[in-house]
Amino acid sequence: MTNDTYTLTNADGSKSMQLPVRQGTLGPDVLDISGLNRDLGVFTYDPGFVATGSCDSEITFIDGDKGVLLYRGYPVEQLAKHSSFIEVAYLLLYGDLPTAVELETFSSSIRRHTMLNEGMLRFFTGFRYDAHPMAMLSAVVGSMSAYYHDTMDINDPHAREVFTHRILAKLPTIAAAAYKLNAGQPFIYPRNDLGYCDNLLHMLFAVPAEEYEIDPVAAEAFDLLFILHADHEQNCSTSTVRMAGSSGANPYSAIAAGIAALWGPAHGGANEAVLAMLAEIGHTSNIKKYIDKAKDKDDPFRLMGFGHRVYKNFDPRANIIREMCHRVLKQVGRQNSPLFDLALELEEVALKDEYFIEKNLYPNVDFYSGIIYRALGIPTSMFTVMFAIGRTVGWVAHWREMIGNPHGKIARPRQLYVGPGLRDYTPIEKR
Ligand code: SDX
Repeated sequence: MTNDTYTLTNADGSKSMQLPVRQGTLGPDVLDISGLNRDLGVFTYDPGFVATGSCDSEITFIDGDKGVLLYRGYPVEQLAKHSSFIEVAYLLLYGDLPTAVELETFSSSIRRHTMLNEGMLRFFTGFRYDAHPMAMLSAVVGSMSAYYHDTMDINDPHAREVFTHRILAKLPTIAAAAYKLNAGQPFIYPRNDLGYCDNLLHMLFAVPAEEYEIDPVAAEAFDLLFILHADHEQNCSTSTVRMAGSSGANPYSAIAAGIAALWGPAHGGANEAVLAMLAEIGHTSNIKKYIDKAKDKDDPFRLMGFGHRVYKNFDPRANIIREMCHRVLKQVGRQNSPLFDLALELEEVALKDEYFIEKNLYPNVDFYSGIIYRALGIPTSMFTVMFAIGRTVGWVAHWREMIGNPHGKIARPRQLYVGPGLRDYTPIEKR
């Protein structure tokens, strides 16, 4: 907290107000403008909230210039190297790294809540065989509010805790059920003896006709990817969860809203769009043509997997994922993957291009993740679902933080009205 203020005065000096400055633990100070309309009769205007903070948060911090990402103060690079997704989930939810007993208790609770209500499973028989998995994920997560009536009271701390464990435990099961519908294969029930990523692999790739052996490389890759996707401050989908939850809506509906927002190609849908883009580029000889398209203002084409609202240097997650990409492709015997070679060449060309340098456009988390998922046998349509499995714990952590804020308000932005002035109704015979 600081006693600093900024003085804001209107053009003719007839009105003035002090804007309190607030300092966080890290990052830029903020100006508290909540009294602006009351004292000066004006609103701020910031489409896309480029320079607008929506809340206080203790969960994640990003320094876009230095490529820093901290989960509860711990650098993501250290968590990626030393931790596990379940341990990172505990950290994001409860604020500190767990003791061995706390981790075992949390992990055991998650393992024992992975099954779905049998009625929810029947939803999947109603979807078209080729329904997009993100459509099924958002629909079935939203339907959880029609089943789990014991966790609808957002003001009940115990209900919030049960919801937290339930949604984290069941998300992979719902994701795998969507995949099995698309694959035309029978749903595979979760197993309580398997860890989070092993269970997901089992539900995705096991079939009744034979024993399934879990690939430890794939399990390790999933675990790392889920850590890297777990949270990212007030990104579009997390802000959507906070906004939906701010009305007092039940938590399942708030998470379903976040899934819908994540699906967009400008956000979590980019990993799926990257693979489509690489397929369209096809060969390194076409790279220049597509770089030129991305730079052409009259062409809506953008280089998927490049650019970021906050990272204006590099996305630390992309660097970690690129390194893991090499390892996974080598270990699954696809070190000469044309897709990966094309991605590496595209990155190299883009990073030397004046336009990308001037606009601070670097590969983001979505640029390489899809190549790893593809190498592990995950279909492109499931890439954003994999992103959602990782990000759900971040959404839940932010939802809990928002609901736990005694000064919380419903989110209700204002606007600049540029429509028609006041006018009277015109009878149809006179139009
Ligand atoms: C995620 O917010 C998060 O934290 C998101 C995320 C998370 O973990 O939650 O990190 C996950 O969503 C990563 C981003 C995935 N999306 C993509 O890869 C899609 C391609 N990227 C762009 O759509 C874009 O870069 C955004 C959406 C990611 C960021 O957009 P901004 O911050 O609104 O920036 P902008 O669109 O205003 O771009 C600034 C300039 C523009 O040119 P000018 O109008 O200034 O002339 O850069 C250009 C843009 O045209 N630009 C690009 C570009 N991205 C931005 N030009 C070509 N290709 C691109 N990819």
